[in-house]
Amino acid sequence: MTDLSNISRERQGNILVLTLDRPAKKNAITSAMYQELTAALSEAAGDFEIRSVVLTGAGGTFTAGNDIFDFMNEPAKDESAPGFQFLAALHNFPKPLIAAVQGSAVGIGTTALLHCDLVYAALDTQFQMPFVNLGLVPEAGSSLLFPRLVGHAKASEIFLTGRSFGAQEALDMGLINQITDSPLETAIKVATVIGDQPPTSVINTKALLKSKDHLAIEQVMAVEGELFRIALESEEAQIAFMKFLEKKGK
Ligand code: COA
Repeated sequence: MTDLSNISRERQGNILVLTLDRPAKKNAITSAMYQELTAALSEAAGDFEIRSVVLTGAGGTFTAGNDIFDFMNEPAKDESAPGFQFLAALHNFPKPLIAAVQGSAVGIGTTALLHCDLVYAALDTQFQMPFVNLGLVPEAGSSLLFPRLVGHAKASEIFLTGRSFGAQEALDMGLINQITDSPLETAIKVATVIGDQPPTSVINTKALLKSKDHLAIEQVMAVEGELFRIALESEEAQIAFMKFLEKKGK
């Protein structure tokens, strides 16, 4: 196993397991971690031996989302920002992406799941997209993908209040495939089955499943990105970030 910038990469047969590995900070994702994730996805896309990628988190949680200190200290300036590059890599990744989640799945920890092909979650998982609470806007194409999944009424309620929801609700809305005691074990089992299938057929099938909305999602992500960058510098966001720091007694 190699560990670079709090991202662990582990090969299990033809499966690449990427672990967000910063448990002391609930796996909050820094710019360096986004860069590592993007590089790992790019290498996995070009490596014939890798048939799927499993994305998970260390220490009993998936991720607390974007690192709030990074939001304050290194706000994204344009689409070359590491977070946006990661989202593009996720959106364009050609092989099956399987998420194994538990604990907190906050912000990008939930929106990234909308780009995964399969998601397995522990019963304790709490999903949340608190963009409005932070003075921000939805990202990762979630303003298109989430209402498409759950309908406008429910998406509005969840986005506009920022409330969290549990694994059962996530299962009912179709965000996840299954609630399981060991999400990683289940994800590896399914990845093993997929890894035994003819690889070109798998890649083409994923492409067909995603092709209808590919461009539309890209366009929405560009608009979201623009608003997100403006929001990051806003007074509303700065106040929300300061509140987070104060709560933590920093
Ligand atoms: N960015 C930076 N640091 C974070 C973080 C984030 N997104 N989320 C958690 N941390 C840090 C905390 O500051 C704390 O650090 P400390 O021990 O040095 O004080 C540590 O991780 C543990 O977090 P804590 O809040 O004590 O854990 P918890 O189990 O009580 O709560 C969460 C977990 C995820 C519910 C809570 O940390 C949280 O709400 N985080 C912010 C989530 C967020 O708004 N993300 C941005 C989404 S766009």
